Amino acid sequence: MKRVGILTAGGDCPGLNAVIRGVTARAVGHHGAEVVGILDGWDGLMEGRHRPLDRNAVRGILQRGGTILGTSRRDPYVHGEGAPSVMHTLEREGIDAVVVIGGDGTLRTALQLAAEGVPLVGVPKTIDNDITATDVTFGFDTAVQIATEAIDRITTTAESHDRVMLVEVMGRTRGWIATYSGIASGADAILVPEEPYDLDAVADVVRRRAAQGRRYSVVVVAEGIDPPAGSAVTLSVDAFGFERLGGVSTLVAARLEELTGFESRVTVLGHLQRGGTPTAADRVLGSRLGVAAADLAARGGFGRMVALRGTAVVDVTLEEACAGIRPVPPDILTVARTLAAP
Ligand code: F6P
Repeated sequence: MKRVGILTAGGDCPGLNAVIRGVTARAVGHHGAEVVGILDGWDGLMEGRHRPLDRNAVRGILQRGGTILGTSRRDPYVHGEGAPSVMHTLEREGIDAVVVIGGDGTLRTALQLAAEGVPLVGVPKTIDNDITATDVTFGFDTAVQIATEAIDRITTTAESHDRVMLVEVMGRTRGWIATYSGIASGADAILVPEEPYDLDAVADVVRRRAAQGRRYSVVVVAEGIDPPAGSAVTLSVDAFGFERLGGVSTLVAARLEELTGFESRVTVLGHLQRGGTPTAADRVLGSRLGVAAADLAARGGFGRMVALRGTAVVDVTLEEACAGIRPVPPDILTVARTLAAP
């Protein structure tokens, strides 16, 4: 490996800079390679936009949120002609390996490009924690921490005003952030896409708590749950065909207010969960995956992705990584159900 490119694509995620720093330090210091940072995800690779990275260029970025390289939701198969639209940059610049840091949409694109001969390795990234073939994704811990702190704050104002407070968290079609932040904050109900929900049962919880003198309740809502029966939402889609989610809790709140008579209010945490400084756990995981990705690229492990299995960093095929969207397992959902709805 003489010259390696790094790109970050799709939504940003706390810990991306730790990965960029890890790849760079290992590629330069251990493998004696040159490193270039490709700007704005696949867009930069299609358009040949990049900047040199060395050990100095990645100092002081570990604690910064976002990505120093920029990102985009543009895709070579949607906005270009697939592999040829990125190959010309690699050939012209003498880049013989690319480290692609991305979520499921980006990894699916990487899988297709690898099949067409693009020399790349993957690093799984998402706050949603839903990538198959890795036990945890960096960014998830930070998102859960932010959501938990927010729910703690909502709880005290819910109590002062005798309100039902709904806090909507991200996670797309999976309820990892909702489940973890709901357990961690002691929420009274947690609604996730993995299970059907029953608003009459949630209303019962609210009434039971009121009968016990707790005239407030906090409900954590995953953004990807189905809207309550009878209500419809229209969603737009992004370049990877993913629906733009957000706002379903408003429909749930209206229904709960009708059922319980308690004023029901909504807070949608949105991109707050993705911004700002990563937790120590995400910085360490990002650093470990970055170093492993540089090693994987150096040994020519193209078409593969670094992953965490148990406590070990391993590598797996991109096919495995794209095999499905990982749901919250039943044992963790049981814990959530046991501790909510007292
Ligand atoms: O996949 C990460 C994520 O933050 C989801 O939880 C959320 O639905 C989506 O990205 C939001 O994407 P965007 O920043 O493009 O609105």
